[in-house]
Amino acid sequence: MAANTEVAAGEGETAAPGMDLADIQGNLLRGYGFAHARHFALGVTDAKRAKAFLAGLVSGDETQSPQISTEQHWRPNVRPHYRLNLGLTFAGLKALGVREGALKDFPAAFQEGPAARALKVDLDFPEGVGLGDQKEERSGPKNWILGNPAQPDVHMLLSLYTNEHQKGPLERFSKLLRKLFGDAKLTEMLAFDADALPERRVHFGYRDGIAQPRIQGAPGRARPDMQPECEPGDFLLGCGYKNVYGGNYLGSLPPALADNGTYAAFRILEQDVAAFEDLLVDWSKRYKLGSPEFVAAKLMGRWRHGAPLTLSPDPKSPDPKLAEHEINNFDYAPAEGHTTFFDDAHGRRCPIGAHIRRLNPRSSLVMGRPHSRRLIRRGMPYGPPFEKGDGKERGLVGMFICGDLELQYEFILRVWANMDLATHGLRGTREPILGCQPEDGGEFVLRTSDARDPIVMINLPRLVQTRGSVYCFVPGIGGLRQLAGIAGPPGGSAAKP
Ligand code: HEM
Repeated sequence: MAANTEVAAGEGETAAPGMDLADIQGNLLRGYGFAHARHFALGVTDAKRAKAFLAGLVSGDETQSPQISTEQHWRPNVRPHYRLNLGLTFAGLKALGVREGALKDFPAAFQEGPAARALKVDLDFPEGVGLGDQKEERSGPKNWILGNPAQPDVHMLLSLYTNEHQKGPLERFSKLLRKLFGDAKLTEMLAFDADALPERRVHFGYRDGIAQPRIQGAPGRARPDMQPECEPGDFLLGCGYKNVYGGNYLGSLPPALADNGTYAAFRILEQDVAAFEDLLVDWSKRYKLGSPEFVAAKLMGRWRHGAPLTLSPDPKSPDPKLAEHEINNFDYAPAEGHTTFFDDAHGRRCPIGAHIRRLNPRSSLVMGRPHSRRLIRRGMPYGPPFEKGDGKERGLVGMFICGDLELQYEFILRVWANMDLATHGLRGTREPILGCQPEDGGEFVLRTSDARDPIVMINLPRLVQTRGSVYCFVPGIGGLRQLAGIAGPPGGSAAKP
Protein backbone atom coordinates (compact mmCIF):
# COMPACT_ATOMS: atom_id res chain seq x y z
CA MET A 1 0.00 0.00 0.00
CA ALA A 2 1.64 2.88 0.10
CA ALA A 3 5.02 4.11 -0.08
CA ASN A 4 4.14 5.94 -3.22
CA THR A 5 5.14 6.90 -6.62
CA GLU A 6 7.74 9.25 -5.38
CA VAL A 7 8.93 11.79 -7.85
CA ALA A 8 12.39 13.27 -7.56
CA ALA A 9 12.35 16.87 -6.37
CA GLY A 10 12.16 19.58 -8.95
CA GLU A 11 11.19 17.30 -11.83
CA GLY A 12 7.95 18.63 -13.25
CA GLU A 13 7.72 21.01 -10.34
CA THR A 14 5.22 23.24 -12.04
CA ALA A 15 1.58 22.64 -11.16
CA ALA A 16 -1.54 23.66 -13.04
CA PRO A 17 -2.53 27.31 -12.65
CA GLY A 18 -4.60 27.62 -9.52
CA MET A 19 -2.89 24.73 -7.75
CA ASP A 20 -0.86 26.53 -5.09
CA LEU A 21 1.71 23.94 -3.98
CA ALA A 22 2.82 26.14 -1.08
CA ASP A 23 -0.68 25.94 0.36
CA ILE A 24 -1.16 22.15 0.06
CA GLN A 25 0.25 19.91 2.78
CA GLY A 26 2.97 17.52 1.56
CA ASN A 27 2.60 13.75 1.04
CA LEU A 28 -0.68 14.37 -0.75
CA LEU A 29 0.04 14.85 -4.44
CA ARG A 30 3.41 13.09 -4.14
CA GLY A 31 4.54 10.71 -1.46
CA TYR A 32 7.67 11.29 0.60
CA GLY A 33 8.93 7.70 0.34
CA PHE A 34 10.72 8.17 3.70
CA ALA A 35 12.01 5.30 5.84
CA HIS A 36 10.49 6.12 9.22
CA ALA A 37 7.34 7.69 10.56
CA ARG A 38 5.98 8.53 14.01
CA HIS A 39 2.32 9.43 14.32
CA PHE A 40 1.47 11.44 17.45
CA ALA A 41 -2.16 11.41 18.60
CA LEU A 42 -2.68 14.57 20.66
CA GLY A 43 -5.38 15.98 22.95
CA VAL A 44 -6.02 19.72 23.38
CA THR A 45 -6.42 20.86 26.99
CA ASP A 46 -5.90 24.60 26.45
CA ALA A 47 -7.24 26.00 23.17
CA LYS A 48 -5.24 29.23 23.35
CA ARG A 49 -1.94 27.41 23.83
CA ALA A 50 -2.86 24.83 21.21
CA LYS A 51 -3.44 27.63 18.70
CA ALA A 52 -0.04 29.10 19.54
CA PHE A 53 1.43 25.66 18.90
CA LEU A 54 -0.30 25.55 15.51
CA ALA A 55 0.92 29.07 14.72
CA GLY A 56 4.48 27.95 15.39
CA LEU A 57 4.11 25.02 12.96
CA VAL A 58 3.19 27.37 10.07
CA SER A 59 5.22 30.45 10.98
CA GLY A 60 7.95 29.71 8.51
CA ASP A 61 10.49 30.01 11.32
CA GLU A 62 12.37 26.71 11.71
CA THR A 63 14.35 28.07 14.65
CA GLN A 64 11.15 28.22 16.72
CA SER A 65 9.47 25.02 15.64
CA PRO A 66 9.59 22.24 12.98
CA GLN A 67 7.35 23.35 10.13
CA ILE A 68 4.41 21.66 8.40
CA SER A 69 5.60 20.44 4.99
CA THR A 70 3.95 21.52 1.78
CA GLU A 71 3.83 20.16 -1.75
CA GLN A 72 6.40 22.76 -2.65
CA HIS A 73 8.98 20.07 -2.66
CA TRP A 74 12.55 20.27 -1.68
CA ARG A 75 15.14 21.39 -4.14
CA PRO A 76 16.72 18.69 -6.33
CA ASN A 77 19.30 16.58 -4.40
CA VAL A 78 18.55 18.39 -1.15
CA ARG A 79 16.69 15.89 0.98
CA PRO A 80 15.18 17.44 4.08
CA HIS A 81 15.83 15.83 7.45
CA TYR A 82 12.18 15.58 8.25
CA ARG A 83 8.68 16.06 6.91
CA LEU A 84 5.69 16.96 9.04
CA ASN A 85 1.91 16.80 8.50
CA LEU A 86 -1.05 17.67 10.66
CA GLY A 87 -4.63 16.41 10.59
CA LEU A 88 -7.46 17.39 12.92
CA THR A 89 -10.43 15.31 13.98
CA PHE A 90 -13.91 16.80 14.27
CA ALA A 91 -13.50 16.85 18.07
CA GLY A 92 -10.17 18.62 17.50
CA LEU A 93 -11.80 21.40 15.48
CA LYS A 94 -14.33 21.81 18.27
CA ALA A 95 -11.57 21.90 20.91
CA LEU A 96 -9.86 24.69 18.97
CA GLY A 97 -13.07 26.68 19.10
CA VAL A 98 -14.16 26.50 15.45
CA ARG A 99 -17.58 28.12 15.41
CA GLU A 100 -20.72 25.96 15.35
CA GLY A 101 -21.78 27.46 12.03
CA ALA A 102 -18.72 26.02 10.31
CA LEU A 103 -18.63 22.75 12.28
CA LYS A 104 -22.10 21.70 11.17
CA ASP A 105 -21.09 22.01 7.52
CA PHE A 106 -18.50 19.24 7.73
CA PRO A 107 -19.67 15.94 6.17
CA ALA A 108 -21.45 13.42 8.43
CA ALA A 109 -18.78 10.73 8.09
CA PHE A 110 -16.10 13.12 9.35
CA GLN A 111 -18.32 14.45 12.16
CA GLU A 112 -19.24 10.95 13.38
CA GLY A 113 -15.78 9.40 13.02
CA PRO A 114 -14.74 5.81 12.24
CA ALA A 115 -15.82 4.16 15.50
CA ALA A 116 -19.41 5.41 15.28
CA ARG A 117 -19.49 4.64 11.55
CA ALA A 118 -18.22 1.12 12.23
CA LEU A 119 -20.98 0.50 14.75
CA LYS A 120 -23.66 1.96 12.53
CA VAL A 121 -26.14 -0.65 11.18
CA ASP A 122 -26.15 -0.55 7.41
CA LEU A 123 -29.82 0.17 6.61
CA ASP A 124 -29.49 -0.87 3.01
CA PHE A 125 -27.56 -4.03 3.82
CA PRO A 126 -28.52 -5.12 7.36
CA GLU A 127 -26.84 -8.51 7.03
CA GLY A 128 -23.63 -6.77 5.94
CA VAL A 129 -20.53 -6.07 8.02
CA GLY A 130 -20.35 -2.34 7.34
CA LEU A 131 -16.72 -1.18 7.26
CA GLY A 132 -15.65 -4.60 8.56
CA ASP A 133 -14.97 -3.44 12.14
CA GLN A 134 -17.62 -5.51 13.84
CA LYS A 135 -18.14 -4.58 17.49
CA GLU A 136 -17.86 -8.13 18.84
CA GLU A 137 -14.69 -8.78 16.85
CA ARG A 138 -11.01 -8.05 17.62
CA SER A 139 -11.40 -5.27 15.04
CA GLY A 140 -14.24 -3.76 17.06
CA PRO A 141 -13.72 -0.10 18.14
CA LYS A 142 -13.79 -1.07 21.81
CA ASN A 143 -10.49 -2.89 21.25
CA TRP A 144 -8.83 -0.05 19.34
CA ILE A 145 -5.62 1.55 20.60
CA LEU A 146 -6.56 4.74 18.74
CA GLY A 147 -10.01 6.23 18.27
CA ASN A 148 -11.52 3.92 20.88
CA PRO A 149 -14.88 5.48 21.94
CA ALA A 150 -14.14 4.58 25.58
CA GLN A 151 -11.00 6.76 25.51
CA PRO A 152 -10.73 10.57 25.43
CA ASP A 153 -11.11 12.04 21.96
CA VAL A 154 -8.08 12.40 19.74
CA HIS A 155 -7.88 16.01 18.56
CA MET A 156 -4.79 16.15 16.38
CA LEU A 157 -2.71 13.65 14.44
CA LEU A 158 0.80 14.97 13.88
CA SER A 159 2.86 12.79 11.54
CA LEU A 160 6.64 13.08 11.57
CA TYR A 161 8.70 11.45 8.79
CA THR A 162 12.48 11.07 8.67
CA ASN A 163 14.64 9.37 6.16
CA GLU A 164 17.99 8.53 7.62
CA HIS A 165 18.76 4.84 8.03
CA GLN A 166 19.22 5.33 11.75
CA LYS A 167 16.30 6.61 13.86
CA GLY A 168 18.48 9.40 15.41
CA PRO A 169 16.68 12.21 13.55
CA LEU A 170 13.27 10.73 14.42
CA GLU A 171 14.20 10.87 18.13
CA ARG A 172 15.74 14.32 17.78
CA PHE A 173 12.69 15.87 16.16
CA SER A 174 10.38 13.95 18.51
CA LYS A 175 12.19 15.52 21.47
CA LEU A 176 11.78 18.98 19.93
CA LEU A 177 8.09 18.39 19.30
CA ARG A 178 7.47 16.93 22.75
CA LYS A 179 8.88 20.09 24.31
CA LEU A 180 6.38 22.07 22.25
CA PHE A 181 3.54 19.68 23.27
CA GLY A 182 4.46 20.43 26.89
CA ASP A 183 4.45 24.19 26.34
CA ALA A 184 1.06 23.94 24.64
CA LYS A 185 -0.37 21.60 27.30
CA LEU A 186 -1.14 19.03 24.62
CA THR A 187 -1.67 15.47 25.86
CA GLU A 188 0.30 12.85 23.94
CA MET A 189 -2.19 9.96 23.77
CA LEU A 190 -0.20 7.70 21.44
CA ALA A 191 3.02 7.78 19.43
CA PHE A 192 2.84 5.07 16.79
CA ASP A 193 5.92 4.16 14.75
CA ALA A 194 6.16 2.74 11.24
CA ASP A 195 9.27 1.73 9.33
CA ALA A 196 9.74 0.93 5.66
CA LEU A 197 10.77 -2.63 4.77
CA PRO A 198 13.38 -3.33 2.08
CA GLU A 199 12.33 -2.98 -1.60
CA ARG A 200 9.22 -1.04 -0.57
CA ARG A 201 7.59 -4.29 0.52
CA VAL A 202 4.77 -4.52 3.02
CA HIS A 203 4.07 -7.42 5.33
CA PHE A 204 2.62 -10.36 3.31
CA GLY A 205 5.68 -9.72 1.10
CA TYR A 206 4.13 -7.61 -1.67
CA ARG A 207 5.80 -4.62 -3.24
CA ASP A 208 3.61 -1.62 -2.58
CA GLY A 209 3.21 1.97 -3.61
CA ILE A 210 2.81 1.24 -7.32
CA ALA A 211 -0.67 2.38 -8.39
CA GLN A 212 -1.73 5.89 -7.37
CA PRO A 213 -4.28 8.20 -8.99
CA ARG A 214 -2.74 10.53 -11.61
CA ILE A 215 -4.18 13.97 -10.80
CA GLN A 216 -4.71 16.58 -13.49
CA GLY A 217 -2.31 19.45 -13.12
CA ALA A 218 -0.41 17.93 -10.21
CA PRO A 219 3.38 18.22 -10.30
CA GLY A 220 5.71 15.32 -10.89
CA ARG A 221 5.65 12.46 -13.33
CA ALA A 222 3.48 9.45 -12.46
CA ARG A 223 3.92 6.03 -14.04
CA PRO A 224 2.13 5.47 -17.35
CA ASP A 225 -1.40 4.29 -16.61
CA MET A 226 -4.35 3.48 -18.89
CA GLN A 227 -6.84 5.04 -16.47
CA PRO A 228 -8.05 8.58 -17.06
CA GLU A 229 -6.43 11.29 -14.96
CA CYS A 230 -8.43 12.25 -11.86
CA GLU A 231 -9.87 15.66 -11.21
CA PRO A 232 -8.01 17.54 -8.45
CA GLY A 233 -11.39 18.03 -6.77
CA ASP A 234 -11.55 14.30 -6.07
CA PHE A 235 -8.89 14.97 -3.43
CA LEU A 236 -8.65 18.72 -2.77
CA LEU A 237 -11.37 21.03 -1.40
CA GLY A 238 -12.30 24.47 -2.64
CA CYS A 239 -10.21 26.63 -4.93
CA GLY A 240 -12.60 26.01 -7.79
CA TYR A 241 -11.31 22.45 -8.27
CA LYS A 242 -13.78 20.07 -9.94
CA ASN A 243 -14.44 16.53 -8.81
CA VAL A 244 -15.52 13.60 -11.03
CA TYR A 245 -19.14 14.73 -10.73
CA GLY A 246 -18.26 18.25 -11.86
CA GLY A 247 -18.84 19.61 -8.35
CA ASN A 248 -16.58 20.38 -5.36
CA TYR A 249 -16.49 18.72 -1.94
CA LEU A 250 -16.11 22.10 -0.17
CA GLY A 251 -19.89 22.28 0.33
CA SER A 252 -20.70 25.24 2.63
CA LEU A 253 -17.39 25.14 4.49
CA PRO A 254 -15.62 28.53 4.74
CA PRO A 255 -12.93 28.67 1.99
CA ALA A 256 -10.46 30.38 4.33
CA LEU A 257 -10.55 27.22 6.45
CA ALA A 258 -10.99 24.52 3.84
CA ASP A 259 -9.33 25.62 0.58
CA ASN A 260 -6.63 23.10 -0.43
CA GLY A 261 -7.68 20.91 2.46
CA THR A 262 -8.53 17.21 2.18
CA TYR A 263 -9.68 14.28 4.33
CA ALA A 264 -7.58 11.33 5.47
CA ALA A 265 -8.78 8.12 7.09
CA PHE A 266 -5.90 7.05 9.33
CA ARG A 267 -5.93 3.31 9.99
CA ILE A 268 -3.71 0.93 11.94
CA LEU A 269 -4.11 -2.55 10.38
CA GLU A 270 -2.62 -5.64 12.01
CA GLN A 271 -1.65 -8.39 9.58
CA ASP A 272 -1.60 -12.10 10.47
CA VAL A 273 1.44 -12.99 8.38
CA ALA A 274 1.72 -16.56 9.71
CA ALA A 275 -1.89 -17.34 8.69
CA PHE A 276 -1.26 -15.74 5.30
CA GLU A 277 1.88 -17.78 4.57
CA ASP A 278 0.15 -20.98 5.77
CA LEU A 279 -2.81 -20.23 3.51
CA LEU A 280 -0.56 -19.85 0.44
CA VAL A 281 1.03 -23.25 1.05
CA ASP A 282 -2.27 -24.95 1.93
CA TRP A 283 -4.21 -23.63 -1.10
CA SER A 284 -1.37 -24.21 -3.56
CA LYS A 285 -1.39 -27.88 -2.49
CA ARG A 286 -5.12 -28.40 -1.94
CA TYR A 287 -6.11 -26.84 -5.29
CA LYS A 288 -2.98 -27.97 -7.21
CA LEU A 289 -2.04 -24.42 -8.12
CA GLY A 290 1.70 -24.99 -8.50
CA SER A 291 3.38 -22.49 -6.19
CA PRO A 292 2.36 -20.50 -3.10
CA GLU A 293 3.68 -17.48 -5.06
CA PHE A 294 0.94 -18.03 -7.64
CA VAL A 295 -1.71 -18.06 -4.91
CA ALA A 296 -0.23 -14.84 -3.49
CA ALA A 297 -0.45 -13.28 -6.94
CA LYS A 298 -4.08 -14.35 -7.42
CA LEU A 299 -5.15 -12.92 -4.06
CA MET A 300 -3.55 -9.55 -4.77
CA GLY A 301 -3.76 -9.30 -8.56
CA ARG A 302 -0.01 -8.67 -8.67
CA TRP A 303 2.98 -10.97 -8.15
CA ARG A 304 4.78 -10.14 -4.92
CA HIS A 305 7.60 -8.47 -6.92
CA GLY A 306 4.99 -6.10 -8.39
CA ALA A 307 4.19 -7.38 -11.89
CA PRO A 308 0.41 -7.28 -12.51
CA LEU A 309 -1.24 -10.63 -13.37
CA THR A 310 -3.01 -8.96 -16.28
CA LEU A 311 0.36 -8.44 -17.98
CA SER A 312 2.08 -11.48 -16.51
CA PRO A 313 -0.55 -14.25 -16.12
CA ASP A 314 1.63 -17.31 -16.64
CA PRO A 315 1.97 -19.32 -13.38
CA LYS A 316 5.15 -20.97 -14.64
CA SER A 317 7.03 -17.78 -15.46
CA PRO A 318 6.01 -14.72 -13.57
CA ASP A 319 7.73 -12.00 -15.58
CA PRO A 320 9.78 -10.01 -13.08
CA LYS A 321 11.40 -8.15 -15.91
CA LEU A 322 8.44 -5.85 -16.61
CA ALA A 323 9.96 -2.40 -16.81
CA GLU A 324 9.10 0.08 -14.10
CA HIS A 325 7.08 2.18 -16.49
CA GLU A 326 5.00 -0.83 -17.53
CA ILE A 327 3.86 -2.21 -14.18
CA ASN A 328 0.84 0.03 -13.85
CA ASN A 329 0.00 0.42 -17.50
CA PHE A 330 -2.87 -2.05 -17.86
CA ASP A 331 -6.62 -2.43 -17.60
CA TYR A 332 -9.12 -5.25 -17.10
CA ALA A 333 -11.15 -4.36 -20.18
CA PRO A 334 -10.79 -2.46 -23.47
CA ALA A 335 -11.67 1.21 -23.00
CA GLU A 336 -11.16 4.60 -24.56
CA GLY A 337 -7.58 4.94 -25.69
CA HIS A 338 -6.93 1.22 -25.55
CA THR A 339 -9.88 -0.31 -27.39
CA THR A 340 -8.01 -3.46 -28.37
CA PHE A 341 -6.64 -4.25 -24.94
CA PHE A 342 -7.21 -7.78 -23.58
CA ASP A 343 -10.72 -8.17 -22.10
CA ASP A 344 -10.33 -10.06 -18.82
CA ALA A 345 -14.09 -9.96 -18.20
CA HIS A 346 -14.10 -13.36 -16.48
CA GLY A 347 -11.00 -12.71 -14.40
CA ARG A 348 -8.98 -15.60 -15.78
CA ARG A 349 -5.85 -13.48 -15.57
CA CYS A 350 -6.59 -11.17 -12.62
CA PRO A 351 -9.40 -12.60 -10.43
CA ILE A 352 -12.43 -10.30 -10.17
CA GLY A 353 -12.12 -10.66 -6.39
CA ALA A 354 -8.40 -9.89 -6.14
CA HIS A 355 -7.38 -6.97 -3.88
CA ILE A 356 -6.33 -4.48 -6.54
CA ARG A 357 -9.20 -5.27 -8.95
CA ARG A 358 -11.89 -5.29 -6.28
CA LEU A 359 -10.72 -1.98 -4.77
CA ASN A 360 -10.09 -0.29 -8.09
CA PRO A 361 -11.92 -2.08 -10.94
CA ARG A 362 -10.47 0.34 -13.51
CA SER A 363 -12.57 0.02 -16.72
CA SER A 364 -14.09 -3.34 -15.89
CA LEU A 365 -17.84 -3.63 -15.46
CA VAL A 366 -18.91 -2.40 -12.03
CA MET A 367 -21.99 -0.83 -10.41
CA GLY A 368 -21.88 2.94 -10.60
CA ARG A 369 -19.72 5.41 -12.46
CA PRO A 370 -16.30 4.04 -13.56
CA HIS A 371 -13.19 5.67 -12.12
CA SER A 372 -15.22 7.61 -9.54
CA ARG A 373 -13.98 6.03 -6.32
CA ARG A 374 -10.26 6.74 -6.28
CA LEU A 375 -8.03 6.91 -3.23
CA ILE A 376 -4.54 8.24 -2.54
CA ARG A 377 -2.80 5.71 -0.27
CA ARG A 378 0.10 6.72 1.96
CA GLY A 379 1.17 4.06 4.34
CA MET A 380 4.06 2.22 5.83
CA PRO A 381 4.55 -1.15 7.51
CA TYR A 382 4.97 -1.40 11.26
CA GLY A 383 6.63 -4.16 13.24
CA PRO A 384 9.74 -6.21 12.44
CA PRO A 385 10.21 -8.34 9.30
CA PHE A 386 8.24 -11.58 9.64
CA GLU A 387 9.70 -14.39 11.70
CA LYS A 388 7.39 -17.33 12.26
CA GLY A 389 6.38 -17.82 15.87
CA ASP A 390 8.01 -14.64 17.20
CA GLY A 391 4.64 -13.49 18.53
CA LYS A 392 5.38 -9.94 17.41
CA GLU A 393 2.60 -7.67 16.11
CA ARG A 394 3.08 -6.30 12.60
CA GLY A 395 0.92 -4.59 10.05
CA LEU A 396 0.36 -1.46 8.05
CA VAL A 397 -0.28 2.15 9.06
CA GLY A 398 -2.32 3.67 6.27
CA MET A 399 -3.53 7.16 5.38
CA PHE A 400 -6.37 6.90 2.87
CA ILE A 401 -6.78 10.34 1.33
CA CYS A 402 -9.83 11.61 -0.56
CA GLY A 403 -12.21 14.55 -1.04
CA ASP A 404 -15.19 12.67 0.42
CA LEU A 405 -14.71 9.96 3.07
CA GLU A 406 -18.14 8.42 2.56
CA LEU A 407 -18.21 8.37 -1.27
CA GLN A 408 -14.64 7.20 -1.69
CA TYR A 409 -12.93 5.56 1.31
CA GLU A 410 -16.00 4.15 3.12
CA PHE A 411 -17.67 3.07 -0.13
CA ILE A 412 -14.59 1.07 -1.11
CA LEU A 413 -14.47 -0.67 2.31
CA ARG A 414 -18.19 -1.11 2.84
CA VAL A 415 -19.36 -1.99 -0.68
CA TRP A 416 -16.38 -3.17 -2.74
CA ALA A 417 -14.43 -4.95 0.02
CA ASN A 418 -17.19 -6.29 2.25
CA MET A 419 -20.26 -6.71 -0.01
CA ASP A 420 -20.64 -8.97 -3.07
CA LEU A 421 -22.96 -6.95 -5.32
CA ALA A 422 -20.59 -4.51 -7.10
CA THR A 423 -20.10 -6.76 -10.10
CA HIS A 424 -20.50 -10.33 -11.31
CA GLY A 425 -18.32 -13.16 -10.02
CA LEU A 426 -18.16 -12.02 -6.37
CA ARG A 427 -21.27 -13.75 -4.99
CA GLY A 428 -20.76 -14.86 -1.37
CA THR A 429 -17.20 -13.53 -1.13
CA ARG A 430 -15.40 -10.67 0.60
CA GLU A 431 -12.08 -9.06 -0.36
CA PRO A 432 -9.36 -11.63 0.51
CA ILE A 433 -6.62 -9.45 2.06
CA LEU A 434 -8.55 -7.11 4.37
CA GLY A 435 -12.13 -8.38 4.11
CA CYS A 436 -14.12 -9.27 7.25
CA GLN A 437 -14.39 -13.03 6.55
CA PRO A 438 -17.18 -15.10 8.12
CA GLU A 439 -16.15 -16.96 11.29
CA ASP A 440 -15.91 -20.31 9.51
CA GLY A 441 -13.78 -18.78 6.78
CA GLY A 442 -14.48 -17.04 3.52
CA GLU A 443 -14.31 -18.09 -0.11
CA PHE A 444 -12.18 -16.96 -3.04
CA VAL A 445 -13.04 -17.78 -6.64
CA LEU A 446 -10.46 -18.59 -9.27
CA ARG A 447 -11.46 -18.79 -12.93
CA THR A 448 -9.41 -21.13 -15.13
CA SER A 449 -9.51 -22.15 -18.78
CA ASP A 450 -9.67 -25.85 -17.93
CA ALA A 451 -12.23 -28.30 -16.57
CA ARG A 452 -11.72 -27.16 -12.99
CA ASP A 453 -13.31 -23.75 -13.73
CA PRO A 454 -14.40 -22.19 -11.44
CA ILE A 455 -12.24 -23.17 -8.44
CA VAL A 456 -13.95 -22.06 -5.24
CA MET A 457 -11.32 -21.96 -2.51
CA ILE A 458 -12.61 -22.12 1.06
CA ASN A 459 -11.50 -21.52 4.66
CA LEU A 460 -10.09 -18.10 3.94
CA PRO A 461 -9.35 -16.70 7.41
CA ARG A 462 -9.56 -13.02 8.38
CA LEU A 463 -5.98 -11.85 7.67
CA VAL A 464 -6.18 -8.20 8.73
CA GLN A 465 -7.64 -6.70 11.92
CA THR A 466 -8.23 -3.00 12.60
CA ARG A 467 -6.25 -1.82 15.62
CA GLY A 468 -7.23 1.81 15.48
CA SER A 469 -8.60 4.56 13.29
CA VAL A 470 -9.36 8.28 13.23
CA TYR A 471 -10.76 10.51 10.48
CA CYS A 472 -8.77 13.68 9.88
CA PHE A 473 -9.43 16.94 8.13
CA VAL A 474 -6.03 17.92 6.66
CA PRO A 475 -6.17 21.69 6.11
CA GLY A 476 -4.06 23.65 3.66
CA ILE A 477 -1.48 26.00 5.15
CA GLY A 478 -3.91 28.92 4.89
CA GLY A 479 -6.49 26.83 6.74
CA LEU A 480 -3.99 25.96 9.49
CA ARG A 481 -3.15 29.65 9.89
CA GLN A 482 -6.88 30.37 10.08
CA LEU A 483 -7.23 27.77 12.86
CA ALA A 484 -4.22 29.25 14.65
CA GLY A 485 -5.89 32.65 14.48
CA ILE A 486 -3.11 34.24 12.41
CA ALA A 487 -4.06 36.00 9.19
CA GLY A 488 -2.09 36.22 5.97
CA PRO A 489 0.67 34.14 4.47
CA PRO A 490 3.55 32.82 6.57
CA GLY A 491 6.67 34.90 6.89
CA GLY A 492 7.98 33.31 3.65
CA SER A 493 6.67 29.96 2.51
CA ALA A 494 6.31 27.38 5.22
CA ALA A 495 8.99 24.82 5.77
CA LYS A 496 11.93 26.17 3.82
CA PRO A 497 14.13 23.12 3.38
C1 HEM B 1 -2.89 -4.50 5.53
C2 HEM B 1 -3.70 -4.09 4.61
C3 HEM B 1 -3.33 -3.87 3.17
C4 HEM B 1 -2.31 -4.39 2.43
C5 HEM B 1 -1.23 -5.37 2.86
C6 HEM B 1 -2.43 -3.84 1.09
C7 HEM B 1 -1.54 -4.12 0.04
C8 HEM B 1 -1.67 -3.59 -1.23
C9 HEM B 1 -0.74 -3.86 -2.31
C10 HEM B 1 0.49 -4.73 -2.22
C11 HEM B 1 -1.20 -3.20 -3.41
C12 HEM B 1 -0.60 -3.26 -4.82
C13 HEM B 1 0.54 -2.36 -4.97
C14 HEM B 1 0.15 -0.99 -5.46
O1 HEM B 1 -0.52 -0.84 -6.46
O2 HEM B 1 0.54 -0.05 -4.80
C15 HEM B 1 -2.39 -2.49 -3.01
C16 HEM B 1 -3.12 -1.69 -3.86
C17 HEM B 1 -4.29 -1.03 -3.47
N1 HEM B 1 -4.89 -1.08 -2.23
FE1 HEM B 1 -4.26 -2.11 -0.64
N2 HEM B 1 -3.51 -2.99 1.04
C18 HEM B 1 -4.09 -2.98 2.29
C19 HEM B 1 -5.18 -2.26 2.69
C20 HEM B 1 -5.95 -1.48 1.84
C21 HEM B 1 -7.13 -0.73 2.26
C22 HEM B 1 -7.69 -0.67 3.69
C23 HEM B 1 -7.62 -0.11 1.15
C24 HEM B 1 -8.82 0.81 0.97
C25 HEM B 1 -9.57 1.31 1.86
C26 HEM B 1 -6.74 -0.46 0.04
C27 HEM B 1 -6.90 -0.02 -1.25
C28 HEM B 1 -6.02 -0.28 -2.27
C29 HEM B 1 -6.15 0.30 -3.61
C30 HEM B 1 -7.25 1.25 -4.08
C31 HEM B 1 -5.05 -0.17 -4.34
C32 HEM B 1 -4.69 0.22 -5.78
C33 HEM B 1 -5.32 -0.68 -6.76
C34 HEM B 1 -4.97 -0.22 -8.16
O3 HEM B 1 -5.19 0.95 -8.48
O4 HEM B 1 -4.51 -1.06 -8.93
N3 HEM B 1 -5.74 -1.31 0.50
N4 HEM B 1 -2.66 -2.74 -1.68
